Amino acid sequence: TNFKWIEAANYDELSKIAATIFIDQLKKDSATVFGMATGGTPEGFYKKLVAAYKAGEISFKQAKSFNLDEYIGINPANEASYHYYMDYNLFNHIDMKRENIYLPAGNKSNLEKAAAEYDALINAAGNIDIQLLGIGVNGHIGFNEPGTPFDLGTNIVELAQSTREANQVYFDSIDDVPTHAITMGIKTILSSKKIVLLISGASKQEAFDRLRSGVVTEDFPASALHNHPDVTVIYTDVK
Ligand code: GLP
Repeated sequence: TNFKWIEAANYDELSKIAATIFIDQLKKDSATVFGMATGGTPEGFYKKLVAAYKAGEISFKQAKSFNLDEYIGINPANEASYHYYMDYNLFNHIDMKRENIYLPAGNKSNLEKAAAEYDALINAAGNIDIQLLGIGVNGHIGFNEPGTPFDLGTNIVELAQSTREANQVYFDSIDDVPTHAITMGIKTILSSKKIVLLISGASKQEAFDRLRSGVVTEDFPASALHNHPDVTVIYTDVK
């Protein structure tokens, strides 16, 4: 495949390699449009970005950021929300302007409209220069679950039971895990100019092997990335 595969010695190395790619991109273009992701995997990456900012190495003053996804029916102040996660891990610590920070809204009355508007905003920003991705145990990217058509923009999805179970750790109980989410679609993700996918840990071994096989199928959403010309996969501890 056309993927660039980078095996990191450990999680810290994975975070460092990914952060270096994003830092170099920002140094090259101070008005970079970032695509950001949540989950446990990129936490180390965000720490490195914040450290580079605090060291005076980079500034986000002219940059923009669009996040992949958000739960439906959750308040941004809820600690399990992706709004909260992004503020906590990144935005509270850097100089990106609030008006340049975008996440899909999961608490709007007209969600379909919010989804269409999100794609329009990304488009108006000139599309994402560099998109960070994690991967779900079932191969989801963003919250695009197995079976999602590859030609969808930002849309409302029902979460797979396995996804709700995997994310239960962030909630008090499984009943508190939302059943639906708003996510950039595969089409939105593929419109990014460059993609960096992080895979860490033995729970992702099956997903890793399946991605590596190169077979493209809607049953495995991450395989859509094989249709993109510039994907770097950084992985560690998958076996
Ligand atoms: C979540 C997010 C994804 C993330 C994935 C893996 O459900 N919607 O964007 O990549 O699951 O998360 P983790 O890195 O915690 O395994």
